[in-house]
Amino acid sequence: MNKTLVTYFSRTGNTRKVAEAIFETLAGDKSLKPMNEVQSLGEYGLVFIGFPVHSHSVPYEVEKFLKNIPAAKKIALFSTHGSLRGHSLSREAIEYAVILTSKTKVLGTFSCRGRLSMQALDVLSQSPEHQEWTEMAVSANSHPNETDLAEAKAFAREIKTRSVHGAY
Ligand SMILES: Cc1cc2nc3c(=O)[nH]c(=O)nc-3n(C[C@H](O)[C@H](O)[C@H](O)COP(=O)(O)O)c2cc1C
Repeated sequence: MNKTLVTYFSRTGNTRKVAEAIFETLAGDKSLKPMNEVQSLGEYGLVFIGFPVHSHSVPYEVEKFLKNIPAAKKIALFSTHGSLRGHSLSREAIEYAVILTSKTKVLGTFSCRGRLSMQALDVLSQSPEHQEWTEMAVSANSHPNETDLAEAKAFAREIKTRSVHGAY
């Protein structure tokens, strides 16, 4: 049960990049897998789970996965989003993920911005109700950047320490 899993859902690669940075920095027995390839969490002592914010919330596939995590499992959550960092909309999505996993031991969360695909920007900018949000999201264009990835790595190391030393 010392093995660590880093799993993610990623449509356009941003969350995968963050997952890879987390995976790289972890020492010891570890595995990196897209969420749809995870059969069971039984063999893992610690699980990092990443997702992109969709419709200001948790994508449906991820919601299902989060609800099925065995009780008392040690987990850490991370997300990428187009909204500004610290904006209530991106905070609410990860807070909702924490609520969905309330039976587990959530050791911590991390979020950073992720560029929107041209396709997503095109679709969103065409609807008037999304206009203002889309203008904000354009500035996510350079993310995740080196600083985001370095912060994700620091987060991973802190979580690992917490899981080993039981500071929960
Ligand atoms: C269909 C779709 C809906 C999105 N909705 C939101 C949203 O509501 N709020 C937000 O902050 N970002 C939103 N985004 C932006 C993504 O969260 C962001 O680009 C993320 O980094 C994508 O991660 P991925 O490349 O791992 O799929 C949306 C992106 C797509 C494609």
